[in-house]
Amino acid sequence: MAEAEVGDNVIDVDPTIRALEERVAELLGKPAALWTPSGTMANLIALSVHLRRGDRFLAPRGAHVLTNELGSAAWLAGGMPEPIETDAGPGRPSSTAVRRLTAGASKTPYYALRTTLLCLENTHNAAGGAVTPPDEHAQLVATARDSGLAVHLDGARLWNAAVALDVPPAALTVGTDTVSVCFSKGLGAPVGSAVAGSIAFVEQARRMRQMLGGGVRQGGILAAGCLHALDNLDDLAADHANAERLADGLREFDWDVVQPETNIVLAGVADVPATLAALRDVGVLALPMAGKVRFVTHRDVTAAEIDEVLRRIGEERARRERRHEATTVRA
Ligand SMILES: Cc1ncc(COP(=O)(O)O)c(C=O)c1O
Repeated sequence: MAEAEVGDNVIDVDPTIRALEERVAELLGKPAALWTPSGTMANLIALSVHLRRGDRFLAPRGAHVLTNELGSAAWLAGGMPEPIETDAGPGRPSSTAVRRLTAGASKTPYYALRTTLLCLENTHNAAGGAVTPPDEHAQLVATARDSGLAVHLDGARLWNAAVALDVPPAALTVGTDTVSVCFSKGLGAPVGSAVAGSIAFVEQARRMRQMLGGGVRQGGILAAGCLHALDNLDDLAADHANAERLADGLREFDWDVVQPETNIVLAGVADVPATLAALRDVGVLALPMAGKVRFVTHRDVTAAEIDEVLRRIGEERARRERRHEATTVRA
């Protein structure tokens, strides 16, 4: 990163950002891509380009664009959000569920709500990093297309899905108009995302990025970190193995754990804030998500550290049991 060649990305002359954008476009099977500072901005740019004010867009229940972007899809992109039931599996709507919401969308009379965009998410964060396989993805896209909808894929963790399924990332973007990806999550780059699509889309996206204050100078420093992340995509398999290791260990303590498909472990507990506080006390950091405790593995967490996490949770549990026994005896 320190040695990155840099330039002014606002006028599109930062060679390292350009190299990253070309690489991302190729990996995602799209004609062009645009670097953005964050995944939220990448999604907002895509939705702003796709939606007209008052258009309805569909996204799986719990999708990041619905629940974690502060309503920007509505407030800034002008879209009216509609969650799709995830009836095909965790985070995965069936094409029947999509059809139920899109039937007749291409023939909407002028006085009726227009549904114009399907926004998918792979992996699905709030469903615990759940993966949508290529065949299901293709069916969802085909169903949306049948009704004239555009398709955006929030692929913040698309790399994890590709590694888990052992397919190239482009196999999971087939038929989409636009795709957003992140380099700063499990991949570990300090900053950076991208949004990919047609050349015409990226021209519009660049204007939108500028409006949102996302045009930067000397951003090649950041893009170099993103390029390094892409050189090490296969490392994500170790994060997935560590997530399984953590899930198996937590189950031995009778935690109600959702089987991880990638690098996120969701655990149902009786009291989420109290559990998070107890974890923090023993030096284990997790976040609340979807009413559960959410652990994430990434390249800075080793298998030995997972064992250490489990040891500390085990000790904390034993301490709590001893306290409980002492109180019961006294009572
Ligand atoms: C699925 C998904 N999309 C988008 C984002 C937004 O990315 P950022 O935090 O870089 O804005 C996240 C962040 O966790 C995410 O999980």
